[in-house]
Amino acid sequence: MLYLVGLGLADEKDITVRGLEVVKSASRVYLEAYTSILLVEKEKLEAYYGRPVIVADRELVESGSDDILENAKDVDVAFLVVGDPFGATTHTDLVLRARELGIPTRTIPNASILSAIGCTGLQLYNFGQTVSMVFFTETWKPSSYYDRVKENAQLGLHTLVLLDIKVKEQSLENMARGRKIYEPPRYMTVAQCASQMLETEEERQEGVYGPDSLAIGAARVGAPDQKLVAGTLKELAEVDMGRPLHSLVLLGKRAHDLERDYIEQFAVNKETFHAAWKQGYGHT
Ligand SMILES: C[S@@+](CC[C@H](N)C(=O)[O-])C[C@H]1O[C@@H](n2cnc3c(N)ncnc32)[C@H](O)[C@@H]1O
Repeated sequence: MLYLVGLGLADEKDITVRGLEVVKSASRVYLEAYTSILLVEKEKLEAYYGRPVIVADRELVESGSDDILENAKDVDVAFLVVGDPFGATTHTDLVLRARELGIPTRTIPNASILSAIGCTGLQLYNFGQTVSMVFFTETWKPSSYYDRVKENAQLGLHTLVLLDIKVKEQSLENMARGRKIYEPPRYMTVAQCASQMLETEEERQEGVYGPDSLAIGAARVGAPDQKLVAGTLKELAEVDMGRPLHSLVLLGKRAHDLERDYIEQFAVNKETFHAAWKQGYGHT
């Protein structure tokens, strides 16, 4: 059996009892380590699970899935995914490949950033499409996310923005020379995301949002040092939320007064927060 096991969001103890049972009895345990990260080291997981864990990078999962699935018809293989295995990450390719090979699969769900973001006090019912923000470069500033944000904004819905993670990336030079030298990991911050969003708005000029639009920065959701900050995009572009992982929510105009009361508790500046709110939030 191939088991896809959700690990939850923060540390080694967020695995479910059922997930832990699978990990303890599986023949091999892989950790998918490129779409999200746990906030603790792999060694901590191994110590808690009492098992060695094989780190599965993008290359192994996308090109070497048959190695992961080897003899999984006869033995159990656990594939660990941070958060929920099907939350904002799709491992359907791996499951389809397993099916082709006649290997049964089972998923052990867990908390996902898609549901845990409810800790902001924003109602999950009022979210539109989730979007991803990638690191801009001098020459590459993809803005297709802006169209999704626009559709959400037209309905007055909140937008969850998930932020880029770069692990095991090669520099262009090393790639060109075929050198397997990897850059240090990079995780986008709320401040980087807010300023990239403002850059896109400057370029597109469609008024979907602006420097005074309200948003929430969420860091290390589910961890003991979880941090939430509400403010205008201009304010969030300056905020320091500490270590990864970060997400951002752009507030929809239909935000409810109860949502406002909840998020104002962690506003960077209550005055600017209320001034921005009066500019058009809270209408149904
Ligand atoms: C591609 S998603 C993977 C989601 C994961 N499978 C899940 O179900 O939560 C990864 C992104 O979600 C966000 N994220 C994941 N965990 C988070 C956390 N604990 N706190 C804040 N943001 C988080 C970050 O923006 C991160 O780059």
